[in-house]
Amino acid sequence: MRPGARTDVGPPSRVLGSRPRPRPRPVPELGFGGWAVGGSGWGAPSPERERLGAVERAIERGITFFDTAPTYGAGASESLLGRVLRPHRERVTIATKVGPRDDPRGSLETSLSRLATDYVDLVQLHEYGDRWESQIEELSRLQHEGKTRAIGACNATHLQLARALEIAPVQTYQGPYNVFDRDVEERHLPLCSRRGIAFLAYRPLASGLLGGGYEAVPAPTFPEGDHRRNIFWFKGAEFDRRRAAIARLEGLARARGTSLAALALGWVLARPGVAIVLAGARTASQVDDNVSAVEHPLSGEDVAQVDAIVAAVFPPRRATPTARRLAAGWGARERYIVEQLDGSRTCEAIAAGWTDRGEQPMLAAQVKVFCDQLAEQGLVE
Ligand SMILES: NC(=O)c1ccc[n+]([C@@H]2O[C@H](COP(=O)([O-])OP(=O)(O)OC[C@H]3O[C@@H](n4cnc5c(N)ncnc54)[C@H](OP(=O)(O)O)[C@@H]3O)[C@@H](O)[C@H]2O)c1
Repeated sequence: MRPGARTDVGPPSRVLGSRPRPRPRPVPELGFGGWAVGGSGWGAPSPERERLGAVERAIERGITFFDTAPTYGAGASESLLGRVLRPHRERVTIATKVGPRDDPRGSLETSLSRLATDYVDLVQLHEYGDRWESQIEELSRLQHEGKTRAIGACNATHLQLARALEIAPVQTYQGPYNVFDRDVEERHLPLCSRRGIAFLAYRPLASGLLGGGYEAVPAPTFPEGDHRRNIFWFKGAEFDRRRAAIARLEGLARARGTSLAALALGWVLARPGVAIVLAGARTASQVDDNVSAVEHPLSGEDVAQVDAIVAAVFPPRRATPTARRLAAGWGARERYIVEQLDGSRTCEAIAAGWTDRGEQPMLAAQVKVFCDQLAEQGLVE
């Protein structure tokens, strides 16, 4: 452990300070995800007035945690948040990020200027490039200088996160988490819980898929420049599986008198170990709907029903004897997946097991896509 590194850290907001252990499980909070209000990467940009209105409504509805990044709308998200949040600065938590190829100091200085503030509450390393360890060290120096109150990590493997904790007092980890995308349950959430790191869930609505409106066949197409074009769950067999689950989740939401989005957010809010759920929104009415998730928390029975609906469309696969024979001549990753397809392991568990080796990491998404390719050739059952 590097001198000065703290282990007794987390959870953030209200506000990012250390708390003595043991502590009760913190009540998870709904935060505002600021990507879509950056106005690009999400199809035709909505009018700025509408995007400002979404952030203003978040403030009105009592949301105090705002997440953004220099890349969201090439700075537009930070600038827009800065305009709205300035009068509320002392009572809001602002989190931004530093990119894998960026100089942390220069990047944070630019973010501070766009955000119209002389400090942020949290700055997170967005992704892991070749220089990530020295970037974390620099973020730690920026924390000591008071430019950020805390530092955090996003999109790291659990091994990288554990290493980051040896380098600096990382207080938060931000990773994708929704009813369908559950890689973090394997290694990250347990690690965060053991080490007192606040877990921030991003893409809780699966980038809008869990907002509804994707019932029609075929799968949606998105315009050039819309990041959802490249997301695997908006196409192919994964889209069909998710759509089948969503049809049933919508029924459950109706029975509870909430929207599908509120059900999906409520599920993440109910998961153990989650500190903040970052829900993106680009209109005030979406914010209102998202806040209703806090007002109508899921019961244990609701959570179990959601889990059962989702599990029904993702049964563990079993590789056929032919697949096992053929796999002997395939690459190490493919061979590993086929060996693990024994009809009991989930795609998340398979991916985490590979990532434990410390080589190029694997995600459940990659296992699912590969299984779909095997299925097309009749190589899994
Ligand atoms: N660290 C990272 O690498 C990383 C990556 C991704 C996201 N994030 C953070 O996490 C936040 C949340 O993720 P995200 O914005 O990508 O995805 P998300 O929260 O899963 O989905 C947000 C989108 O869902 C739709 N939506 C929101 N509320 C809705 C409602 N009540 N009803 C129907 N549709 C609704 C909107 O899109 P439409 O209106 O277009 O459908 C909105 O832009 C981001 O804003 C960002 O702050 C971080």
